[in-house]
Formats: sequence, C-alpha cells, structure tokens
Amino acid sequence: MNKSLRKAVIAGNWKMNKTPAEAKELITAIAPLVKDAGCEVVACTPYVDLWAAQEAAKGTNIQIGAENCHWAKSGAFTGEISADMLASMDVNIVIIGHSERRQYFGETDVTVHDRTRAALDAGLTVILCVGETLEQREQGITSELVALQTKIALGGVSAEELKRVIIAYEPVWAIGTGKTATAEQANEVCHVIREVIAELYGKAAADGITIQYGGSMNAANAAELLAQPDVDGGLIGGASLKPQDFAAIVEAATKG
Ligand code: PGA
Repeated sequence: MNKSLRKAVIAGNWKMNKTPAEAKELITAIAPLVKDAGCEVVACTPYVDLWAAQEAAKGTNIQIGAENCHWAKSGAFTGEISADMLASMDVNIVIIGHSERRQYFGETDVTVHDRTRAALDAGLTVILCVGETLEQREQGITSELVALQTKIALGGVSAEELKRVIIAYEPVWAIGTGKTATAEQANEVCHVIREVIAELYGKAAADGITIQYGGSMNAANAAELLAQPDVDGGLIGGASLKPQDFAAIVEAATKG
C-alpha cells in the first residue's frame, strides 16, 4: 500500500475544553507552529467555540471542525445541533461516533450510522471513530468488532461519499489514559479497517482513504505511530490542547 495515495490528517479533538476566548488564544498559538505542515491540520472544538476558532484560523492552514452532529435535519431534539447548522457556519468537518459519545451518551452503531449519513448529506467530511474496549481486546474480538462498527456506520454510503470519510481507529483503553497502542497494534487494526474498505468499495478506495490512529498520541510517540504503513494521521485529544505538542505531532505527520 502506498501512503502517498492518501492525505495525512492530524485532527485535534478538544472535547469539552476551552471557552471561546481560550479557543481564540489556542488557535492563535498553534497557527504559526503548523504553518508549514505537509499534512492537513484540523481542530475540532466545542460548538460554542466554533465561531471564535474560525475567526482565529482565518488565513491559516487550520480547518475548524465540530465534535458531533445530530441525524435529523431539525426538530424536537433539545441540546442537539444539526449537520446543516454546522454547514451553514462553514464548518466542513465533524467527528462522529467518538467512544466518549458511545460510552456516556448512549451512542450506538445505528445512531453513529445515522449521524454519519446526515453529515455526509450536508456536505461535511466525517471523522468516523471506531475502536474496542480493553475487555473486547482481551476477548480477541478487536478485528471483528472494528470491522462491524465500520460496516454499520458506512451502510448506504456511496464510493463518491466515501471520499469525505476519514476513519479514526481509537482503542477505548488508550484514550486519555496515557496508554498508547504499540505502533504494531495501531497498524494492525488500521490495516483491518483498510481491508474492510477494500471489501466494500474496492482497492482504489482502500488505498485512498485516510485512516487515523487516536489514543494518547503525543509528541514523543507520534513519529513511530505515523511511520506505520496503514496509519495516515492522528486524532489527538490531550496533546491537541498544548500548542508545542500538537505542532510536534503535525511535524511527525509531515515526515510521515
Ligand atoms: P487522547 O484522546 O489523545 O487524549 O487519548 C484521543 C481522542 O479521544 O480522540
């Protein structure tokens, strides 16, 4: 598989951190550090920070994304945000199916599918998150589970739409724990996902899709993870809030 066939994407997932004023500061601090990036650079922020982050990112190579969107176009869904609302703000990219959504907010493979559908319909690019818990890894079902999560989420997604899908492999046991998957473990599962894409959409689509690793990726371990043949980028939580660390990961992806 030839890595040059696909784009490397480093995306920050800020989670529930930063006020709008802090978002502006953080983007302003990151921007000069990543200006020569040889990969795409994204910061996914809380909804209320989107506008401030976009303002701060104007004229830079940082794209601002969201962390979720609802599956309906509009309606009685208190507290939710639709994909069209994001698109109307010129937000072009959104994380869907993050394990924290699955763990704490009752997100299922079916709702992940529905939200993916809505985001694609609104013209957004989706960072689709899949990954196993520690228990599932110990049961030896990682590959099957991740394949199933991927297949359900992508049900009905056309080959053309797939060009707007990035998949993030995030082992739940590695998120926010400081426990990173080894480079081999990360590559192995990213490879499984690529095989699933090949099965569903053919080899060219599999060669072209960006598959990220996420879970305690940091300045120290990024280079080794990103050098793996099937790891095309990262979804970065904690380290995305630290400009120097985030920039070091972007730098590692640039060398890739
Ligand atoms: P982490 O989070 O880098 O803090 O482990 C990654 C993620 O949740 O996307």
